[in-house]
Amino acid sequence: MREIEAVVIERAGAEPAVERLGLDDPHPGEVRVRMSASGVCHSDLHVREGHWERPGPIVMGHEGAGVVEAVGDGIDPRLVGRQVALSWYAPCLRCRECQQGRQWLCTGSPSLRHRQADGTTRLVRRDGTPVLAYLSIGTMASAQVVPVSAVVPMPEGVPSQVAALIGCAVSTGVGAVVNTARIHAGSTVAVIGLGGVGLSCVMGAALAGARRIIAVDLKRAKIDLAGELGATHWVQVDPDNPQGTVDGIRAATGDHGPDFVFEAIGLRATIEQAIEVLPPGGTAVLVGLTRFEERVSLEAFPFVDGGRRVLGSNYGSTVAAVDFPRYAEAYLAGRLPIDRLVGRRIRLADVESAFDHLRTGDIARQVILFDE
Ligand code: APR
Ligand code: ZN
Repeated sequence: MREIEAVVIERAGAEPAVERLGLDDPHPGEVRVRMSASGVCHSDLHVREGHWERPGPIVMGHEGAGVVEAVGDGIDPRLVGRQVALSWYAPCLRCRECQQGRQWLCTGSPSLRHRQADGTTRLVRRDGTPVLAYLSIGTMASAQVVPVSAVVPMPEGVPSQVAALIGCAVSTGVGAVVNTARIHAGSTVAVIGLGGVGLSCVMGAALAGARRIIAVDLKRAKIDLAGELGATHWVQVDPDNPQGTVDGIRAATGDHGPDFVFEAIGLRATIEQAIEVLPPGGTAVLVGLTRFEERVSLEAFPFVDGGRRVLGSNYGSTVAAVDFPRYAEAYLAGRLPIDRLVGRRIRLADVESAFDHLRTGDIARQVILFDE
């Protein structure tokens, strides 16, 4: 048993608090990771606000990186000391989807139960109450025990903040472009919503050789950052004029409409705009997660008549063991400037201020740093 510090939320919608918890040793199939960095993602805000029901008490966070401290029985001890990025969806590697290489759709993963594979948790309060770990990795903690299939060793020289962001925002956004949509070089692309995820869509589109990249957001600062990451055109949204967004995107493509639109917010209005702006043959890729039970509508005739497509992209169709090192190497080669997403660095105790910034959308990614 080791003592750790972690951000714990009693139930979805409650105020989080930093607590001292006991962390058990890793069981077979698990590793203990000393955390170096944890990003704060809009999905964490969904839990904080109570939009998504979650069991509790639970350690928050699902975008992290650290160094392996100990391994359970049967795991290669050479993993100890390696820097790893954490995947928030630990594949079972045995189900039909995993065997087909579609690990992001794994049906045997413990992650959505927020426990280890055997259904228990390694975290406990002083009074003996078990504490869950969000998506089995609960990264807002100085250390965690996680399933071994959630850890991916990083190449030498990757900063911990970059490794952390590969765990969610980068894989979700870049993967939507290169895995889910598989855009071709020379495509025209629009990205609606420029948080960590949308800005990663912009970087992915640049990496894949898009001809035009139209960055769309409410905030001018986000648009400017998108420009530094490869966006060629922009539309600043006026929330009172949704048609203006559609017209602006169309105008930026020479009135044709973009080949691909990535919606990276998860709002009905922007999802409907993403579909509406498509030209015949165009594809809307829905990346942002909505509130549960949200519905959207589209005009059916032109959708069918024009051969348009809508794709759902969960976690950028990521196979962490393959994609994480790919993104890390692209970063090291200067082709994926992931570090530019980090707009604010904080300590564990300041997590509430990070949620305040997420509500206003003024900073790209905020990262919690732990003592190295
Ligand atoms: N039109 C355009 N942009 C908007 C609008 C709107 N109506 N509303 C919000 N935005 C912008 C914000 O200004 C912000 O830049 O969308 C961006 C959202 O960014 P973040 O809150 O940082 O979200 P992020 O962490 O990138 O996640 C985006 O992906 O995985 C999901 O749950 C996650 O649904 C969330 C989405
Ligand atoms: Zn996330």
